[in-house]
Amino acid sequence: MSDRILMAPSLLSADFTRLAEAVSLVEGAGADFLHVDVMDGHFVPNLTIGPPVIRALKRVATRPLDVHLMIDDADTTVDWYLDAGADWVTVHAEACDHLHRIVQRIHAAGAKAGVALNPATPASVLEEILPELDLVLVMSVNPGFGGQAYIPSAAAKVAAIAAMIAACGSHALIEVDGGIDETTAPLVTAAGARVLVAGNAIFGRPEPGAALNAIREAGQAAVPRG
Ligand code: DX5
Ligand code: ZN
Repeated sequence: MSDRILMAPSLLSADFTRLAEAVSLVEGAGADFLHVDVMDGHFVPNLTIGPPVIRALKRVATRPLDVHLMIDDADTTVDWYLDAGADWVTVHAEACDHLHRIVQRIHAAGAKAGVALNPATPASVLEEILPELDLVLVMSVNPGFGGQAYIPSAAAKVAAIAAMIAACGSHALIEVDGGIDETTAPLVTAAGARVLVAGNAIFGRPEPGAALNAIREAGQAAVPRG
């Protein structure tokens, strides 16, 4: 596992009338991914971005689109997001009847596959699928909105998943999403997270680029050595 902390700013907290500017700002600051939150008004109580906006983002992005599907029917609609240009596609374990099949489908399209877990979902649901995954997304808030407070139990779940990954030889990265800032980033990187999503703590600040790097540095400093 690489020890480098990767940053995935969440465009959910950007100004939707100026998404291209937000993309170029965070890419200029060194973002590793662009995190795109897709919500369907069913799996979560909010509606956000869909395939047409992902297609538009793909035209201006130089970093991979990390598309987080908070939707009920990913089994039947995942192709929409793959066709729109998603580079990494993460589906929720709670919302997929056929997790293995959907991961195969994402890989067949040439994209990277992730599985997300809500705060109340145990790490153990990953046991059979973990060797197939490129990413595990640990939700540290209940999904639906930006700007919520970090739920402290996320760090122990990250540690449990890191141990499972080591035990099965998976190459999956652990990403944490929700309430991540300079204070909470070290809690999850110390436990094994290597990709940090942050929305409000980047785009809600007067200097988003500086905030992105401060979060990365705080997280990096807590990565255990050796
Ligand atoms: C929450 C989304 C997150 C959210 C993170 O449902 O999945 O990606 O945008 O926002 P912050 O960093 O503000 O908690
Ligand atoms: Zn997200």
